[in-house]
Amino acid sequence: MFAGIILCHGSPQPVFLLLFLLNALFFLCFVTSSHETELQILLSFKSSIQSSKPNVFSSWNQANSHCNFTGIVCSDGSVSEINLASKALVGTLPFDSICELQMLKKISVESNLLHGIISDDLKKCKNLKYLDLGGNSFTGSVPDLSTLNKLEYLNLNASGISGAFPWKSLENLTELTFLSVGDNLLEKSKFPLEVLKLSNLYWLYLTNCSITGNIPIGIGNLTKLENLELSDNHLTGEIPKDIVHLQSLRQLELYDNFLSGKIPVGFGNLTNLEYFDASNNQLEGDLSQITSSLKSLSSLQLFQNKLSGTIPEELGELKSLKELSLYGNMLTGPLPQKLGSYGGMDYIDVSDNSFSGSIPPDMCKNNHMTDFLLLNNSFTGTIPETYANCSSMIRFRASRNSLSGVVPSGLWGLPNLQIIDLSMNHLEGSITSDIGKAKSLAQIFLSYNQFSGELPLEISEASSLVSIELNSNQISGQIPDTIGNLHKLTTLKLDMNNVSGVIPYSISSCVSLNEINFAGNSLSGEIPVGIGSLLTLNSLNLSSNKLSGEIPSSLSAQRLSLLDLSNNQLSGPIPDSLAISAYKDGFIGNPHLCSQILENFKPCSFESGGSRRIRTLVLCLIAALMVIAVSLCYILFLKLKQDKFEKPVLKTNSWNIKQYHLLNFNQSEIINGIKAENLIGKGGSGNVYRVVLKSGEEFAVKHIWTSNPSDRGSYRSTSAMLKRCSRSSSEYDAEVATLSSIRHVNVVKLYCSITSEDSSLLVYEFLPNGSLWDSLHTSKKAQMGWEVRYEIALGAARGLEYLHHGCVRPVIHRDVKSSNILLDEEWKPRIADFGLAKIVHGGAGNLTHVIAGTLGYMAPEYAYTCKVTEKSDVYSFGVVLMELVTGKRPIEAEFGESKDIVYWVCSNMRSKEEALELVDSTIAKHSREDAMKVLRMAALCTAKIPSSRPSMRMVVQMLEEADPCALTNIVITHD
Ligand SMILES: *[C@@H]1O[C@H](CO)[C@@H](O)[C@H](O)[C@H]1NC(C)=O
Ligand SMILES: *[C@@H]1O[C@H](CO)[C@@H](O)[C@H](O)[C@H]1NC(C)=O
Ligand SMILES: *[C@@H]1O[C@H](CO)[C@@H](O)[C@H](O)[C@H]1NC(C)=O
Repeated sequence: MFAGIILCHGSPQPVFLLLFLLNALFFLCFVTSSHETELQILLSFKSSIQSSKPNVFSSWNQANSHCNFTGIVCSDGSVSEINLASKALVGTLPFDSICELQMLKKISVESNLLHGIISDDLKKCKNLKYLDLGGNSFTGSVPDLSTLNKLEYLNLNASGISGAFPWKSLENLTELTFLSVGDNLLEKSKFPLEVLKLSNLYWLYLTNCSITGNIPIGIGNLTKLENLELSDNHLTGEIPKDIVHLQSLRQLELYDNFLSGKIPVGFGNLTNLEYFDASNNQLEGDLSQITSSLKSLSSLQLFQNKLSGTIPEELGELKSLKELSLYGNMLTGPLPQKLGSYGGMDYIDVSDNSFSGSIPPDMCKNNHMTDFLLLNNSFTGTIPETYANCSSMIRFRASRNSLSGVVPSGLWGLPNLQIIDLSMNHLEGSITSDIGKAKSLAQIFLSYNQFSGELPLEISEASSLVSIELNSNQISGQIPDTIGNLHKLTTLKLDMNNVSGVIPYSISSCVSLNEINFAGNSLSGEIPVGIGSLLTLNSLNLSSNKLSGEIPSSLSAQRLSLLDLSNNQLSGPIPDSLAISAYKDGFIGNPHLCSQILENFKPCSFESGGSRRIRTLVLCLIAALMVIAVSLCYILFLKLKQDKFEKPVLKTNSWNIKQYHLLNFNQSEIINGIKAENLIGKGGSGNVYRVVLKSGEEFAVKHIWTSNPSDRGSYRSTSAMLKRCSRSSSEYDAEVATLSSIRHVNVVKLYCSITSEDSSLLVYEFLPNGSLWDSLHTSKKAQMGWEVRYEIALGAARGLEYLHHGCVRPVIHRDVKSSNILLDEEWKPRIADFGLAKIVHGGAGNLTHVIAGTLGYMAPEYAYTCKVTEKSDVYSFGVVLMELVTGKRPIEAEFGESKDIVYWVCSNMRSKEEALELVDSTIAKHSREDAMKVLRMAALCTAKIPSSRPSMRMVVQMLEEADPCALTNIVITHD
């Protein structure tokens, strides 16, 4: 450049040359210093931000030109773009220096972990056209943006911002084409009218940002809009009439609001509309505006509104329609018979309406349909033959209708079908051998129909089956012997049918069974002894059959919550261990049963039963000896029985001790401490005593009976759900197996186990502050400031993290709740009570099907799949976090009927003010913001879909970052 100047000017006068030289030098200096400044700005940017990904900043050093830095774009030698989206950035953005970059047009740092405030210095970024800060953890409110009047693209979605949004500045941002502010805890506001002037907008996303009041008339002026999303706000009033002018609209999302009125006249003009979702509102009127001119419409979701009337035939002419969800309205009449005939549907849910008429035949035309949900309507006619080829089908549910005729045979064998639910119809015919091909089938619900014929042998090849409910039909023939191959089966209901023959012995191979109901059939022969070895069995109903022989005493091992053997032809003694009041009606109608214990049964004599061995012996003795022997045995028998039913007096002999931690005490000291005055709690799996040794050491000792049934009541939770899915009877084994191998400061320490023939003692460290439940829901709560609660949350999370990720095989606790989190003298938490814990074998995909847990803490997937994973613990832990923050119990009357804390918290977190209201009023004001952050994590943990919950490892990380004592707070937001 210097040389160029000299050349250009040929041979100039010395004075001019000097002037030029000075000028040029000045120019050079200026350029150089501006470059240096830009480099320094970028290096200071780098110093305030880190990335956990390798190589993001490796090129950011002085050896390189700054225009060559990863993510930096220059134009004419000046930085014009910063592109660092999804680079795992952690730190604060130094807006003061970045906005010194005079030519900066684009900042794209979305999807990182940036925190801190968006400072006022952003004002200086006057040349910005593109600003994307979405998906971060910024705090505080957004500064005025009026000076950024060249901005075309503004995304602040889920960026963590809060407070009042500077809507007013939008009136200066006339160039905006893309505006997204959703999913932030903003202060409530009316719909910002400034938006209506932004005539270049093609994208407007204001979902979940606390907008109240009406959607204004004038929205129809934004004729370039292709995407309009206003879901999950507090919008009221009607959908504005001029919305039908948005000719370019491809997506309209209005769900989860309080919109009322009808779908506007002329809605059919939206010929480019592909997705329309206005579910969960209060829309009324009919669907007459959904006309065939909506030729691009692919998804129509209007479930849970107040729509009525019939569906226009024209809906069947929507050639692009793939998804139709209208459940929970008051719609009547038939579905258009042409529905799906232009290419098939993917998904239809019209449940809980009053539809009638027959099922359209072509909905699975191109074999894309996965969900066919018509529950609770008045459909009639047969299931069309076409569905027998619908190999894509996953859920076929049409229960509670008036369908009749024979189910097309192929339907039973669809390879991807997971649930077939046709209960409460008038269907007939038999389940065909095709069912052997249904390799994915988990649930088959056919109750209350007229199905007949035998169960096919091939049912045993449908090896994914978890539930078979065929009650109240006309099934005949025998239960196939092959049923024993169904190892995942938890429920088998064949009650009220015409099944005959014997109960196959192979049933004891169905090792997951919870519930067996064969009542009201014609089964004969003996009760297979093997039923007693089904450890997870919870309910056994064999009443009203023709069963004979004796009651296997093995049944007593299971602590069944229901045992009904009434109205059969059983004989012999009722085993003493079953002769308890809970079962007393379960034996009536068997005239040949006897019992020494139960009233209304004749006492047992050896003539009418008794043990075969004794009977054989008796036959071998002479009459006189027999009388003596019988009398002696009888006296002995009564004596033994008495002993057994007395309150446990623990004898010190015949105990077997196993140590897991070194300790020094005499086992008899522990055993002598098991007495009523030391009782401190009745746990889910036994009584707990506090035992103080002579040395002064304290222990908590759990006493578990292994054979005394008199305490049965306390083993069972009362929740209705548990009726379906029982606790394992080997709680003791589970606890020992789990705990003996675990060493973690936040997991309760098991010192040793002491076992005898009919009792087991587990000796734990004693935790003087009792359970979290007791502390939180009594007057002790006042002592628990936020710092204490936070430490409890973090410690408990670490304990669970260790169980899930730190052991050789993951351990799922399955009963995480505040009463199973114990506190030591410093309030440090320990995870306790592993009575239901399950060690996961065979890797992550392996799920356990036995249901256990406590109402209020149980993840929703328990209710319908009985599948439990680590993520179910995460859900329960989320509930514990909610308890800690709000001070409420998981179920309280104020939440509303059959509503729990999760519902209550999640439906009251729409604005920051609302969320702050949820925080326990005994928590100091200055800590409430911190507590609220933990509440947001809790909401994340209790996501409905297990896969969207974070792992415990993630939870620990998030909690660590929310430390109220740390200088910087990073909170990962909802995404
Ligand atoms: C920029 O990087 C390229 C290769 O990545 C290299 O060839 C070039 O020399 C670099 N330029 C400067 C000024 O560092
Ligand atoms: C924003 O627009 C208003 C009205 O058009 C104008 O008065 C104001 O000066 C503008 N503000 C900025 C910072 O440009
Ligand atoms: C919409 O456009 C019309 C015609 O251009 C205009 O009169 C009206 O004021 C606009 N409405 C809003 C709310 O901007």
